[in-house]
Amino acid sequence: MKLHRHIDYGPLIERWQGGDLATWAAQLPDQLRAGMSLQRFGDLPTWLQALEALPELQADAIHLDTARVGASCRTPIDPAVEQQLRDALMQLHPWRKGPFELFGTHIDTEWRSDWKWDRLLAALEGLQHRRVLDVGCGSGYHCWRMLGAGAAQVIGIDPTPLFVVQFWALQKYLQQADIWLLPAGIEQVPPKLHAFDTVFSMGVLYHRRSPIDHLQELKDCLRPGGQLVLETLVIEGGPGATLMPEGRYARMGNVWFLPSCATLLAWLRKLGFRNCELIDVTVTSTDEQRSTPWMTFHSLANFLDPQDPGLSIEGYPAPRRAIVTANVPGQWQPCDTP
Ligand SMILES: C[S@@+](CC[C@H](N)C(=O)[O-])C[C@H]1O[C@@H](n2cnc3c(N)ncnc32)[C@H](O)[C@@H]1O
Repeated sequence: MKLHRHIDYGPLIERWQGGDLATWAAQLPDQLRAGMSLQRFGDLPTWLQALEALPELQADAIHLDTARVGASCRTPIDPAVEQQLRDALMQLHPWRKGPFELFGTHIDTEWRSDWKWDRLLAALEGLQHRRVLDVGCGSGYHCWRMLGAGAAQVIGIDPTPLFVVQFWALQKYLQQADIWLLPAGIEQVPPKLHAFDTVFSMGVLYHRRSPIDHLQELKDCLRPGGQLVLETLVIEGGPGATLMPEGRYARMGNVWFLPSCATLLAWLRKLGFRNCELIDVTVTSTDEQRSTPWMTFHSLANFLDPQDPGLSIEGYPAPRRAIVTANVPGQWQPCDTP
């Protein structure tokens, strides 16, 4: 199922035929066409041209387990080719999640997503032999890190087509067969799949109108004993405390519920998750989320109260993010055919 010269989902659909993901494989062609529809997404042709404009370069080394995910070659590349690479990648602005480095070009993204990865890594059950789902994966930065950490197969889903094209720009050079980023939201994942060993949902829960339903959907994606890694905005407070910003939150629309850590853990337990643990709480700093040449729009510093950086511009507590892990009941067994 080729959507473009550099975007081919055929091998994934073939791989899923006849297995526990066959239902999804059957729905994928329609989902892919809708998720990358030129009629729906007016900027998509420009992004696809950028993908087309990427120079042909052969990587000598692939970097998946370092902060800057990317590819490199031993011999320096021609400055004109380097410029062509930079120009094409720049056409995929804004680059939000990263960093990446391709043949010496450092894509200094809005977020230091590697910091989040470093905060969660110790709490992760080993990814070897695991099929992993990353819900709301953005450009797929963490998906690459999951592959670098040994995952057997990584599936990222994100409904924003620019991020999908950014992923394929990386994939043109990294050429990894076990990582896929699908232009889809959690709504497109068939119900009660129970097909993933580890499921990540990072930066998504607060965008869901019904957070409990989101947690249930994540649970339904997991195989028995599988691990959930959840990261979301939280507030300080005890059991039951939850903030529902009426308008925007840190300039973001579509923010529904920010629980306290105690509330979040109680939600998970109430849904039947086991081993619910708080791994980390970090107030987001303007070093971690900031404008850069690769994301020139406003960023966190513009979303905080200039008189009191402890408050968002709307007067709510400034962004604070928690990572929790939990398991679904059951004894996890490695899957033979990811
Ligand atoms: C704050 S970003 C988080 C990106 C990445 N997971 C991280 O932690 O850095 C939220 C992402 O969720 C995606 N998203 C929005 N609605 C979604 C949905 N219904 N299902 C899956 N992803 C969604 C957005 O496109 C965006 O890329």
